[in-house]
Amino acid sequence: MYQIGVDIGGTNIKIGLVDDQLNIVRRSSIPFPHLDGAAVAAQIAAECRRLTEAQGCGMEAVDSVGVIVPGSIDPTGAVVLNAYNLGFHNVPLRAQLQEAFGGTPVFLANDADGAGLAELGRGAFVGCQTAVLFTLGTGVGGGLILGGKMFSGGKKQGVELGHMPLVAGGEACTCGNKGCIEAYCSATAIARDGVRAMEAHPDSLLAARAGGDPKAVDAKLVIDCAKEGDPAAKAVFDAFIDHLGSACIAMIHLLDPEVIAIGGGVCGAGEFLFEPLRKNVDAKCFFSDHAKIVPAVMGNDAGMIGAAMLSRNA
Ligand code: BGC
Repeated sequence: MYQIGVDIGGTNIKIGLVDDQLNIVRRSSIPFPHLDGAAVAAQIAAECRRLTEAQGCGMEAVDSVGVIVPGSIDPTGAVVLNAYNLGFHNVPLRAQLQEAFGGTPVFLANDADGAGLAELGRGAFVGCQTAVLFTLGTGVGGGLILGGKMFSGGKKQGVELGHMPLVAGGEACTCGNKGCIEAYCSATAIARDGVRAMEAHPDSLLAARAGGDPKAVDAKLVIDCAKEGDPAAKAVFDAFIDHLGSACIAMIHLLDPEVIAIGGGVCGAGEFLFEPLRKNVDAKCFFSDHAKIVPAVMGNDAGMIGAAMLSRNA
């Protein structure tokens, strides 16, 4: 039998047909349609049918569908409470998906919880009892492993590590608060600070590469320019590392985990990111022996694999 894992993001919906060894045997991606929950559910179900037909098996060979979203879920795992980047608020998505899928059981969870589950199944958290995942993308997600299992919050609403306050009265966050980890450590935040740096330093490499166009500044460009030694971009990158280091410290001092993994596109920076991050954490940490800080290993497939694993974690 197969499981289907669906990773709903603000740009694309990624769908994977996953076998018992957690391999994605067939995959597909459709644009996120920015429609209501029922219409999104219908498009997902139609794409899943196409995918299983292409595999020559049909939906009869699928024993569960797991779906992850970038937002909080109600305690019964049925309603998307707030997914700001999807524009979903109080959407009864599990029932809408269940209706679209008929008899195949549907499970719903937070995207970073799903990614954490994938790291536990096949990635950086294999064998761990206590571990923390930060996913750095449009938003900042958090996945927590406690007692060797995914922990989705005491009230099962998912953990929202990205919305823990980091800077009192700081930068505005998508959630309406100020100073959240997400407002300093997301790819969006790096791009925002990159634009400011470009505007303050029109003679910088960053400004030259972006042609002075704020829309051309993304996290990757800022990091690439920092790597090339551009002082304006490097200052943005250093501040990002300092904030991410503080976010890691908060988790280490709270949980004393074995591993903290960092995922998301920003991790493409490799040791350029991890070396200063480890130094930052060493300098601030209460414990001399503390969590290893490592790149997440499941990459872009984490969401689909974690979503497919939801039925096993239920
Ligand atoms: C959302 C989280 C999500 C994260 C990553 C945050 O803005 O609140 O639920 O896990 O973005 O997508």
